[in-house]
Amino acid sequence: MIISVMNQKGGCGKTTIAVNLAALLKNSGLNVVILDADPQLSASRWARQGGDTFPLSVHPLDMTKGARKVKTDIRELAQAADIVVIDCPPELREPAMLASLLADMVLVPVTPSPLDIWAAEAATELAQDARELNGNDKPVVILVPSKTNSQTVIAKDLGKTLSTLEGQVAPVNIVQRVVLAECVIAGSTIDRYAPHSPAFKEMQALSQFVLQFK
Ligand SMILES: Nc1ncnc2c1ncn2[C@@H]1O[C@H](COP(=O)(O)OP(=O)(O)O)[C@@H](O)[C@H]1O
Ligand SMILES: [Mg+2]
Repeated sequence: MIISVMNQKGGCGKTTIAVNLAALLKNSGLNVVILDADPQLSASRWARQGGDTFPLSVHPLDMTKGARKVKTDIRELAQAADIVVIDCPPELREPAMLASLLADMVLVPVTPSPLDIWAAEAATELAQDARELNGNDKPVVILVPSKTNSQTVIAKDLGKTLSTLEGQVAPVNIVQRVVLAECVIAGSTIDRYAPHSPAFKEMQALSQFVLQFK
């Protein structure tokens, strides 16, 4: 199963969701590999921060080399993997289209601000275009409310607003929580860093939701 985490908006939580989700999927006994397709290589850096104790393998993936090469690269890098999580670059050019075409699932993290919702709209439209090109077979397109703050009106309305877009809305919010930033500094993932935290429970709920599609 290939999961592409995609949105052209930087800072919306792609890497945070890609890496922690991968960790939780791994905990369900699956062999999970992260492919870091962002030239900024944040996921790779996060893994390096953890050194030998980092629980996942993260490989850089250059998605600018054309479909055929990228497909072979993914096959090679993810040989024994049950799940491949691709952390996409913050843009909607060819690599994003390719990441959508090759994916079984596209996750679009979306933060609760009107400008970000418009960005998510463009990302989901691209993923839906890929789905049409694939004969409406795949990918399934999921919007993931990200960095939400339950105190604000705009976050409370987010689910309703997102339901007007062309994707399913995940039944869980990845709330803005300091531990999610802290675990990067610690070179860890939320399951190890704060296994009893609400942030862990939210990420766990997302992974359970994702697994329903496997
Ligand atoms: N749910 C969250 N709660 C707190 N901080 C978050 C959350 N999601 C992301 N962040 C922080 O926001 C910043 C951007 O997140 P990141 O995952 O790198 O976004 P992207 O990959 O889309 O650019 C990082 O500093 C990250 O630690
Ligand atoms: Mg990133």
